[in-house]
Amino acid sequence: RHGDGQSSGGELVVGGVSASALKAQYGTPLYVLDEDNVRARATAALTAFRGAFQAVGSSAKVYYAGKAFLSAGVARWMEEAGLHLDVCSGGELAVALAAGFDTARIGYHGNNKSVAEIQRAVTVGVGVIVVDSAIEVQRIAEIAARHGVRQKLRIRVNSGVHASTHDYLATAHEDQKFGIPLDDVPDIAVAIRAEDSLELLGLHSHIGSQIFDARGFVESASRLLAVHKELLAGGPLPELNLGGGFGIAYTTADDPTPVGEIARQFAEIVAAECARLEIPVPIVAVEPGRSIIGTPGITLYEVGTTKDVQVGDLGVRRYVSVDGGMSDNARPALYGADYSVRIASRVSDVEPALVRVAGKHCESGDIVVNADYLPGDVQPGDLLAVAATGAYCWSLSSNYNYLGRPPVVAVRGGTSRILIHGETEADLLRHDADITVAVVAPQ
Ligand code: LLP
Repeated sequence: RHGDGQSSGGELVVGGVSASALKAQYGTPLYVLDEDNVRARATAALTAFRGAFQAVGSSAKVYYAGKAFLSAGVARWMEEAGLHLDVCSGGELAVALAAGFDTARIGYHGNNKSVAEIQRAVTVGVGVIVVDSAIEVQRIAEIAARHGVRQKLRIRVNSGVHASTHDYLATAHEDQKFGIPLDDVPDIAVAIRAEDSLELLGLHSHIGSQIFDARGFVESASRLLAVHKELLAGGPLPELNLGGGFGIAYTTADDPTPVGEIARQFAEIVAAECARLEIPVPIVAVEPGRSIIGTPGITLYEVGTTKDVQVGDLGVRRYVSVDGGMSDNARPALYGADYSVRIASRVSDVEPALVRVAGKHCESGDIVVNADYLPGDVQPGDLLAVAATGAYCWSLSSNYNYLGRPPVVAVRGGTSRILIHGETEADLLRHDADITVAVVAPQ
């Protein structure tokens, strides 16, 4: 499923390239994206949602959520697959523009877009801006009017639905910063429709991330559609955006729903609710990030040290330390996220041992894989592959402890190429105003 396989030497092979070849060319840590797998998932999402909504007399759009991972190369893959693109900052928009992504197919999010960001979005022709507050309506209206643009908007709704997921990832329960409370939405719609420089496209909700249970989507769709119906009385409202958040498998404990099934469920819910409300089925947009880019990504690390630690009565825990950590994958430290690991450079028939893979940062919470099994002879020099690191790893990465971000490479058909260069020591020192001498790292 990760697009990987075994070569005759028992090594991990991704996109036709072996782990040791990747290590030799780029070093470790290294983010590796299986390009065919990413493209296939993008195409599968679009095909599934289009098909499901055509079957109920409407159509669908899929926005790739760039916050999961965005580079110019990936933006082009998404455009070639026919997807739209969701950005949520001036920086993400800049990458999309640099990639030449069709601006009419970009959606722009954020609860506090700066005036400069709005101005840029409006003037480059961003297809739709998602309004997150009443204040923003006036701000966008003025900027659009000044530039002679009629800007399309969605209203981000706080539907009050709490998706069953990690608390920090659930974005639509009431006491949080995103969106406009359901009750206030009609007034915002009136305010938007009163402006000649604005056009209301529809409502938007995003209830959280890494969701496995469709009930949250059912609930938010039905709450949104009730307001959608109310707003139809005041003018056209062609679209409804139900956000992203589809869960993926990080370990064997996760059991994600295939995208075809999710799309069918969405179409069924929306069509049934529209029939009940006696309104036409709107064009439905979704915004998956993780479910497109997460699984096709792995991170390669090299083992530096191992040590066995006596853990009370529990026995021994083997700590396997690698050459990266919370700077390239903050998710275990931030969310207690679980990952799975295997040796990438060889096979071993030594009995598996329960291990914890730790990073090299000066912090005890610097864990890469909390608990998984590796062959008992795991040793310095082994390459480890951590699965499903394509989403929210590079994009949440940092330079903590002055570690440079690892490069991101795409593999496909036996070849590899860099999508984003790794940071060198010179990159890390460049912004220090008191360092004037070029410092060269020893090789
Ligand atoms: N649309 C909106 C408005 C969002 O806020 C997000 C994610 C998405 C779409 C895409 O969600 P996805 O399909 O990727 O789950 N850093 C966290 C996830 C934060 C998600 C933020 N918003 C993590 O690493 O789990």
